[in-house]
Formats: sequence, structure tokens, C-alpha cells
Amino acid sequence: MADLILPGLVDVHTHLRVPGGEHKEDFATGTAAALASGITAILAMPNTSPPLTTPQRMQETRKVAAEQIYIDVGLFAGASPEYLDDLAACAPYAVALKIYLNDTFGPLRVDDLPTLEACFQRWPAGKLIAMHAEGQSVAVGIGLAAAYDRPVHFCHISRREEIELIAAAKGRGLPVTCEVTPHHLFLTEDDVSQLGPLGDMRPTLANKQDVEALWAHIDDTIDCIATDHAPHTLAEKNSAKPPPGVPGLESSLPLMLTAVHQGRLDIERLVDLMVTNPRDIFDLPDQSDTMVEVDADASYRISADILRTKCGWTPFAGQAVYGRVKRVILRGIVVYEEGQLLASPGSGRLLPPTSNDSQQLMIIGNDSKSSEETSYGT
Ligand code: DOR
Ligand code: ZN
Ligand code: ZN
Repeated sequence: MADLILPGLVDVHTHLRVPGGEHKEDFATGTAAALASGITAILAMPNTSPPLTTPQRMQETRKVAAEQIYIDVGLFAGASPEYLDDLAACAPYAVALKIYLNDTFGPLRVDDLPTLEACFQRWPAGKLIAMHAEGQSVAVGIGLAAAYDRPVHFCHISRREEIELIAAAKGRGLPVTCEVTPHHLFLTEDDVSQLGPLGDMRPTLANKQDVEALWAHIDDTIDCIATDHAPHTLAEKNSAKPPPGVPGLESSLPLMLTAVHQGRLDIERLVDLMVTNPRDIFDLPDQSDTMVEVDADASYRISADILRTKCGWTPFAGQAVYGRVKRVILRGIVVYEEGQLLASPGSGRLLPPTSNDSQQLMIIGNDSKSSEETSYGT
């Protein structure tokens, strides 16, 4: 494949840990890790401490982000039974609502029908609802999408029966979409014995048949590749009660390019999964004059030594991959080149722009005519 020019990648599922978990990751380290990996826009999850459940918290977090981000960042609002009255007021500051139907890291959880229905009634119709739903919770989400006739996006689908149910729902024309993580595509439960707590996340790693089912649906049912970058420190992961979650921003593109190299998907599909569909599903603005230059034939082993994520480890250490990001241009400016970060903190934009971020609105107004030209191979 030699050199590739890709559009800026979009990761719709990242945990940046602000507020309250800055020792694991912050807006500067997380967005630097993303940028060095060809990702120019990310959507950050609300299971922070405290979680993003009120407009005040969302505004405060956006303020911190605005000073630190190297790429464009949107925040999810988090659904919680105690803060239902704040939901609608969160919407202007959020790209989407996240509802956690199953147990995972952090306190956010909605597992009763009245609260779920209240979320669907109160969250503005024009904005997406995303769900952490495992097993039969996927059926609950599909039922709500059908009953309320509004789009639902399923995060990190990992099991055969889940992807088959989503395929069936799509076949019926229901407004559902889904993402899959690289760790659920490239690791199985057999890797847990070697990885120990570094192989623990929610959903947990699945069996070989599940992984095969995901790959079988890569060209149709799966809409996005999303990292679920969930950094925790090594000390936390090696503690008596390790939190679930693995980092993924820096391994995502090389793993997916390796799959292209192996003939498991083609490069056009990779662009659908990592750029076009994420943008369409979350209604994100285009980034004009933005591109990622990749040496697609560079082969190497993933190593924790060069990571920019604050947590400093990866479950993919030692994995042989193809594809290295050489240069990233964001809105016409070279922001990353040959291992060097050339952007300044705060140069990324918040998504969506709000009237409180008037400066951003002006800038966006100036160059909104996108002259994006993308070529996928040379
Ligand atoms: O493994 C996980 N970790 N799954 C999630 O859904 C949350 C995440 C985290 O925030 O650490
Ligand atoms: Zn989740
Ligand atoms: Zn997550």
C-alpha cells in the first residue's frame, strides 16, 4: 500500500477522565495520544468523577478542555436517575446522551424502565442517544429505538448474539447503529490468562466464535470502530480490585491497517468505519483541509515505550502491526510530524460549538466551506 493519505480519524468513544481522574489521563495527554495516532476528533465519555450529569459540570469541563485540547473534542452527557431534571439543559453542551444499562467503571447506571423512558422523552429529539448495553440490554435499547422512533447507537458490541440482533433490527429498518472496539476484534478470552488485569474491560473479552461473528459483520452491520480508550494506571490495574478498561487510542489505526494488510477489510471500508460513519451518526462538522499521512507498509511491534497516554501501557504490547502515522494536518496546519507534536494546547475545538464559545463560532464561520479532498492511496 505504501503511503496513504487518510482523512482525520474520529473516535466516538474515549475516556479522558476529566474531572476527577486526571492522574489516569487528561485532555492534553489524551488528545496528544489521539493526534499522534491520526485521530483528529474524539467524543469523551461522561463517567467522570463527578460524572457529567448537569449543565454546570459540562460547562466547567468544556472550559478545562478548551485550554488543553490538541484536536476537536465533544462531551457526552451522562444519564442518571437523580439528574433527570437536568437532562435537557445538558444538551447544548453535549454531542449525545450516554446511558449505561450495565455495570462498568463509575457510578452512572440506568436499569429501570421508567428512568429509561424519561431519558427518551426528555433528551432533545435531534440529538443521539448512545448506550452501554450488553446481552439482553441490547434488546431493550432496540425496543426503545423502535417505540420512540429515534436513533440509538450501541457502544462496543462484542458478542455474536448482539451483533446478530442488531443486524436483524437494521434489516427491519430500525434506526440503530453500533461500534466495535479493536480489542474485541483482536483479542479473545484466551488472552486473559496472559494479560491478567490488563485484559479486563467491560464488555469482557469474548470467545473465538464471538470474534469471528464480529469480523463476519465488518462490511455491513458494524458502523464504526471506536477505541473505548479507558486508561487506568498500572498500579490501579495491579491492585486487589482492578478497575475495568484498557487504553486504545494509539493502537487502533495500526491494528485496523494490519487487518487491511491481511485482506480482512479494504481501505475504503476502514475510512467508512473510522471517519465517515462516526461523523454522520454523531452529526459532527467536517474538518476542512485535514489529512493524515501514513506509511502503510511500516511494520513494527507495538510498544508501551512510545505511548503518549498518561497510563503508559497497552494490552497490545509486542503485537506485530503495519502502519505508522507520519504527518497530520489539521485545518491546513501541520500539527504532528515524525513523532513531534507541533500543535499548541487549546488549538482543538469544542463540539458542538455553543453561543458561549462565540470566538469558536466565528472561526468556524470563516472556514466552513469545506475543501476537503481525500485520497485513500497512492
Ligand atoms: O472497561 C470499561 N472501562 N468499560 C466501560 O464501559 C467503562 C470504562 C472505564 O471508564 O474505565
Ligand atoms: Zn461502556
Ligand atoms: Zn467506555
